[in-house]
Amino acid sequence: MAYLDNGNQIFKDARKNHYAVGAYNTNNLEWTRAILRAAEETRTPVLIQVSTGAAKYMGGYKIVKDIVEDTMDSMNISVPVVLNLDHGDFESAKECIALGYSSVMFDGHALPTDENLAKTKEIIKLAHERGISVEAEIGKIGENQGADGGELASVEDAKTFVAAGVDKLACGIGNIHGVYPEGWKGLNFDRLKEIADAVPVPLVLHGGSGIPEDQVKKAISLGISKVNINTEFQLAFQGATRKYFEAHKDEDKANKGYDPRKLLLPGTEAITDAMKEMIGWLGTPSIDEELKNAAFDRSSLNEE
Ligand code: G3H
Ligand code: ZN
Repeated sequence: MAYLDNGNQIFKDARKNHYAVGAYNTNNLEWTRAILRAAEETRTPVLIQVSTGAAKYMGGYKIVKDIVEDTMDSMNISVPVVLNLDHGDFESAKECIALGYSSVMFDGHALPTDENLAKTKEIIKLAHERGISVEAEIGKIGENQGADGGELASVEDAKTFVAAGVDKLACGIGNIHGVYPEGWKGLNFDRLKEIADAVPVPLVLHGGSGIPEDQVKKAISLGISKVNINTEFQLAFQGATRKYFEAHKDEDKANKGYDPRKLLLPGTEAITDAMKEMIGWLGTPSIDEELKNAAFDRSSLNEE
């Protein structure tokens, strides 16, 4: 029976040891299988998450949870898996807590800060009673609106939200959802460092697709422990699927190239490949490596 990890220890370890764990958005069954496969084949922990829009597309939050858990079982997934609601509003966060998601993001960035804080506190209370992890958002992640990204998160807000008990904190630091626009100014490392110096919790980089590798790595070295990826896999899926059609493979009737299982395969495999590359960028260690280190630590303790 599938077990969902809340990820608290996973992300604390990541922040402490300067690596990140990817948070990969699912959009359907193929996405779910592709993500879990990459995690299992690399033996790395994984956070799989669903946006409110993708959940609606898939038939609701319960179906998403059922698909993730049943797929974990059918694929014999043995690495830790966190199931997170991505950019949830107040109602969807409460629904996912009741359903038993192991992690929820309450995104109150559009609310006045006081209201964002008050609602975040309510979600923290409900979630923590059930051992569920909570991510909040401060500042604003840009939405294709310009080269500057959204509003920068403030250090004061970071302190306030961490004092309220959030487990992970998403900060606007010039990052943008979707494809980055021409002339994007890059991540604001000064603000990221100020926030990381002020709060010890794992920090979250939204809009992780399309940021140059050196900036991703620098952000991780400063305190980013969770990197959110959605667009990257959509582009990988699109590119591989386009090649399939451009090669007219769908018209190959003798080999049933029109069969949806064949049509969807190149794109699905491209997601797994893209995720493996991303795991390398993030430096996510395999759980086997982690276990070896833990064993080493224990034996040192025994010697003392
Ligand atoms: O919450 C999801 C991510 O922030 C997705 O960002 O559009 O860069 O993949 P992305
Ligand atoms: Zn996001």
